Amino acid sequence: DKAGHKHFMAKEIAEQPAVIGTAIGKYLSPQGDIELSDQDIDFNDFDRIIMVACGTASYACLTAKYWFEQIARLPVEVDVASEFRYREPPIPPRTLAVFVSQSGETADTLAALRYCEGKAARILSVVNVPESSIARESDIALLIHAGVEVGVASTKAFTCQLVVLYMMVLKAARARGTLDAEALADHIFGLRGLPATISHALEKNDTMHAAALKLSHARDVLFLGRGQMYPLALEGALKLKEISYIHAEAYASGELKHGPIALIDENVPVVVMAPRDALFDKTVSNMQEVMARKGKVILISDAKGQAEANDGVWFSIEMPPVPDALAPILYAIPAQLLAYHTAVAKGTDVDQPRNLAKSVTVE
Ligand code: F6R
Repeated sequence: DKAGHKHFMAKEIAEQPAVIGTAIGKYLSPQGDIELSDQDIDFNDFDRIIMVACGTASYACLTAKYWFEQIARLPVEVDVASEFRYREPPIPPRTLAVFVSQSGETADTLAALRYCEGKAARILSVVNVPESSIARESDIALLIHAGVEVGVASTKAFTCQLVVLYMMVLKAARARGTLDAEALADHIFGLRGLPATISHALEKNDTMHAAALKLSHARDVLFLGRGQMYPLALEGALKLKEISYIHAEAYASGELKHGPIALIDENVPVVVMAPRDALFDKTVSNMQEVMARKGKVILISDAKGQAEANDGVWFSIEMPPVPDALAPILYAIPAQLLAYHTAVAKGTDVDQPRNLAKSVTVE
């Protein structure tokens, strides 16, 4: 049932304020404490985390790496499951192994989990389907409570994965003493406001539709982001290519001059994901290098960022303000809607893109 929407993907994008609210509520006590699971996890038991997943779920892991390292000062390695499992990496003692999967049935992710059995100190999964193999075979399974996701392109599962991972990070940071009670309360306050902020972003649907009409004529599109916005650039490029079949690639903004800038001309739209945070000026200077080579920039930023930097851009998409750490979750909305409207404009099969399956149970 598409609940009045043209596609499951549109319905699932629109559901995000509600399901994100549910996911937050499941792990937050009325007193504002984070309670992850009955068998509570003591993050002082671990010296490092390895995170393994595929596709969009791996970009949730990559975002969480920035959070874990910055907020909890805990080193994280992220791997795609198909590489991890055959590399057979050594797993040092006191390693927490984390597997992220919407379906809980992805063959490579499950094989990676089994490889870690008896090696990692603890196996934790972040899954949507409670009775899935990955959930059953973990020491601890944290459910993301996104509800059934039908569209092949993952949307609400991604943002709910991010919410649950962020709450893990806050729990870890508190346990490890890198976040005091007051700072934690600030993070929690921001998190509680997130569903409403996501609703505001969804109200920008017409703007994203207009930007997508421009993108739909492109052959190649680049996505740029820095720091915690780099994984979002990867996610934006993946969403666009999988449903609109437009070639899209993502780069960490600082990598641009090490090669990809050679691609830029007046035919290449460049989507820049840049909230007005500590790295904004750096990203803007990369964006100006793009514009100096006639690249067409779509700038996604907040009002402050737009006011400072949108001179000469091709298209501006203004996001509501959000606490810095939560920007990756909010900026998933324009990544999804740009891909969605571009695909609809091109007439491709949004919910069932060619060659793709919802659950990849073969390697
Ligand atoms: C992209 C997408 C895929 C999945 C990947 C992992 O939109 O949906 O990249 O994220 O196949 O699937 P799960 O999360 O079920 O392990």
